[in-house]
Amino acid sequence: MISFDQVNGIFHLSNNKISYLMQIEEGNTLSHLYYGAPIPSYSGIRSYPRMDRSFSPNLPGAQDRLFSLDTLPQEYPTFGTGDFRSPAIQIRNTDGSSAQSLQYSHYKIVKEKPNLEGLPQTFGEDSETLIIFLEDAISQVQVQLNYTIFSNEPVIARSVQIHNQSDQGIQLEKVSSASIDFAKEEFELLHLPGGYSRERMLEKQPVPAGTIQLTSNRGASSHHQNPFFALAHPHTTETNGEAYGFLLIYSGNHESTIEKDSFDQIRAQIGISPLNFCWSLSPGESFQSPEALITYSNAGLQELSAAFYEVLHKHIIRSTYKEQERPVLINNWEATFFDFDRERLTKILDRAKEIGVELFVLDDGWFGHRDDDRSSLGDWFEYPGKIAGGLADFSKEVHEKGLKFGIWVEPEMISQDSELFNKHPDWIIHVPGRPAAPGRDQFILDLSRKEVQDNLYQQLKKLFSSIEIDYVKWDMNRNMTDVFSQQLDANQQGEVAHRYILGLYSLLERLTTEFPTILFESCAGGGGRFDAGMLYYMPQVWTSDNTDPICRIQIQSGTSLVYPISTMGAHIADIPSHQTRRKTPIETRSDVASSGLLGLELDLAKLDSDDLNVLKMKINFYKANRVLIQFGNFIRLLSPFENNDAAWSFISHDQSECLVYYFQTLQQPEPAFKPLKLRGLDPYAIYQSDAGDITATGAELMQLGIWVNQQKHGDFYSSALKFNKIGEIDNADAND
Ligand code: DGJ
Repeated sequence: MISFDQVNGIFHLSNNKISYLMQIEEGNTLSHLYYGAPIPSYSGIRSYPRMDRSFSPNLPGAQDRLFSLDTLPQEYPTFGTGDFRSPAIQIRNTDGSSAQSLQYSHYKIVKEKPNLEGLPQTFGEDSETLIIFLEDAISQVQVQLNYTIFSNEPVIARSVQIHNQSDQGIQLEKVSSASIDFAKEEFELLHLPGGYSRERMLEKQPVPAGTIQLTSNRGASSHHQNPFFALAHPHTTETNGEAYGFLLIYSGNHESTIEKDSFDQIRAQIGISPLNFCWSLSPGESFQSPEALITYSNAGLQELSAAFYEVLHKHIIRSTYKEQERPVLINNWEATFFDFDRERLTKILDRAKEIGVELFVLDDGWFGHRDDDRSSLGDWFEYPGKIAGGLADFSKEVHEKGLKFGIWVEPEMISQDSELFNKHPDWIIHVPGRPAAPGRDQFILDLSRKEVQDNLYQQLKKLFSSIEIDYVKWDMNRNMTDVFSQQLDANQQGEVAHRYILGLYSLLERLTTEFPTILFESCAGGGGRFDAGMLYYMPQVWTSDNTDPICRIQIQSGTSLVYPISTMGAHIADIPSHQTRRKTPIETRSDVASSGLLGLELDLAKLDSDDLNVLKMKINFYKANRVLIQFGNFIRLLSPFENNDAAWSFISHDQSECLVYYFQTLQQPEPAFKPLKLRGLDPYAIYQSDAGDITATGAELMQLGIWVNQQKHGDFYSSALKFNKIGEIDNADAND
């Protein structure tokens, strides 16, 4: 998969889906030649043209006016030695300068993927890793670029390690995990910005001249900007066109830079956000960056998504639950908020059992003395008397009734009104001498400190071992602003945000290893940390606190650009919606939630028998189709970002089953009839709908389509159409 042409200094990483090419050029500069569809061999045709470019400096110390770092497509560009574009790395040298000139030194190819100490990362035996060592002879900094390729996926996983080989301290001010320079090409930028309750709202725009930065500086990957972007050729659709996807395997501050230079070349970078990042590296010390994935598709966005799904599933998510059908759950949050007692929970539990729910999740409010969101975070022991008979006894009851039991925690946070705060007021992240900024009346524990991690580990270990717990929802409900750790020196305060994430990862590593049978679901006020880093520890994420199905269609569709259905928690909630006050039919709420990991989040005791019957039917249907939904091929058919309606489908790997969901937002008067063309079917198979009213070949369903709005259904309508293969036409007949 990896070869090196010694004579021409060319590295070639390739498999049956991609090729990635680099070359050692003048001054031992590592240039980027190509990333894209596989090419069997490389002749040298992409050698960068030489030209004297005005105002672009030449190589330091050289006479050659035809070669400039300012124009050359590079692999890991630096600052202060001739390239005016965004550097991949910025180092403050001991003398205060930030110039670096990274020159190729040597390389290694290893079968075993190098371990990225303390970080979530790709794994897999079917991989090879190329390690290229670059060095700055003057500062004696060595930069190690890691490139991993897997035998079957269109992806390159990249990370960087910096070694200070000098006898003086340096400071890292920016470290990109990956940087690529594309030769002149027209690109559109796709990314997933949003906010609380409206996560991952897909945006598309042509890449303009200049620099775009997509960042989160909130101490979390955030609701506001997912650590992902894609560059796609204009007019790329779901099925056509070339696209590159960039994803950082990281849960903290991040930045993506997309820069179009004056020759229309595009530099794309992704890594930890440099804002307030400053990492001191003493002599002999090293720094490891998070890993980034760069996927490639030459068949549109569907293939780009499929590549992410495959890499996440095969090479990032570790939990054994990733292969298992996930249970239908009920969560009491939107049903009761903090207002619950055992009697109320039991009523919900009994109804849940009747309609086929498999897991009961007790959300916020069971610990310390928490009756609202102002107290007790940090005190992970039971609120005495809140649940009559105690938590362990309630868990026993849930199990006796045939359901599993899950619990909510928010370990990274602390309330001022808590025993933990009384004992350790200095454990919060805040700047001494300034009042700490609360958020939801809570503060963030300084997870960069080992004793804080240990305290949480001990408390949670006790909780998870003393009660029969099958599932844990790990929440996090505020972002980090006044960043400072009491334990670090002044010159290390720029390390706090990253050290916090490393501390979190270390805690998660210990707990998920200690409790492998618990199904963990990550949450951060909904989808405020929906990223590949958290997925390494927890196989699923609460996608959004917004349970309004009309909003959810967009949220789930945007999320699906990168993250597979088997990672997306989706719940049926009450009306009017807590987030929008909108009233939507129970069928629509069910169908949207059934397009993810189905859960319920409403007070079943308040529902009438009609609604309960619909839910029972929908849950049964979900269970019957759960493998198809959670593990089948997911296909976006109509984008909710471009239309007043949306549609998607799930297709089994053998193409014998297909489930289509169609959603209409607002009813139009006298609408145009619209054929919905399916995709991903076997053209020669004969399919029949469950209701028996449609029988057609895959080719017909894909080329001619099905009518989806031939009646006036009204606002917020949804329909589910299940097709099964009932036969096939003779391939030869079809050609006659
Ligand atoms: C935010 C989560 O996203 C909700 O689902 C719920 O668990 C609340 N926190 C509880 O405080």
